[in-house]
Amino acid sequence: MQWVILQAREGVDDHQISIVLREAFGSPGEAQLVEKLQLCDCFIPELSLVAVRNNQIVGYLLLTTIRINPNQGDSVQSLALAPMAVLPAYQQKGIGSALVNAALIKAIALGYRSIIVLGHANYYSRFGFRPASQWKIRSPFPAPDEAFMAIELADGSLKKVAGIVEYSAPFFELE
Ligand SMILES: CC(C)(COP(=O)(O)OP(=O)(O)OC[C@H]1O[C@@H](n2cnc3c(N)ncnc32)[C@H](O)[C@@H]1OP(=O)(O)O)[C@@H](O)C(=O)NCCC(=O)NCCS
Repeated sequence: MQWVILQAREGVDDHQISIVLREAFGSPGEAQLVEKLQLCDCFIPELSLVAVRNNQIVGYLLLTTIRINPNQGDSVQSLALAPMAVLPAYQQKGIGSALVNAALIKAIALGYRSIIVLGHANYYSRFGFRPASQWKIRSPFPAPDEAFMAIELADGSLKKVAGIVEYSAPFFELE
């Protein structure tokens, strides 16, 4: 099966992205989250990615900026990977993996140094994500240790970056 990973076109792809998120998650929360994140200072258009097959959006992944250890002088910028989704009929074909790999490459090219994700440990570990507790990085949300993960985009970039993650406001409004 052929598809391409592209930057989402602002205002043009929103409806199809919303359908992908609603169908994959089975509820409207993540689609509403993306609508809010698109209006946030944390939004980076280059890191809003779609998987396209035959002119149809079949997958979506968003990276937005967050800060780690916001109450300390050495607060560090990072990225949150959330949400990501593939239309149910197109899952298990490598599209999700292609989205994550493209996101990693783009984030590195833009100079970002780490990514945080709260998700399926068995899935994200294959891309190099490890429990964030390894760096003493903590979630502001209740989360199993193995599900709250981080990846360094440059060697040692999370060394000495301990603390709690500060997500942008829309994440706290997720239903
Ligand atoms: C998670 C998701 C984006 C993966 O997309 P995908 O295109 O199916 O992923 P890929 O084809 O690249 O990879 C499939 C692999 O992911 C694994 N996987 C899918 N969902 C998983 C889950 N919930 N937990 C653990 N592994 C999962 C599959 O078992 C498969 O493993 P295999 O390669 O060993 O067979 C997709 O299943 C989805 O949209 N799920 C619903 C929304 C969701 O849960 N998003 C992620 C929130 S953290």
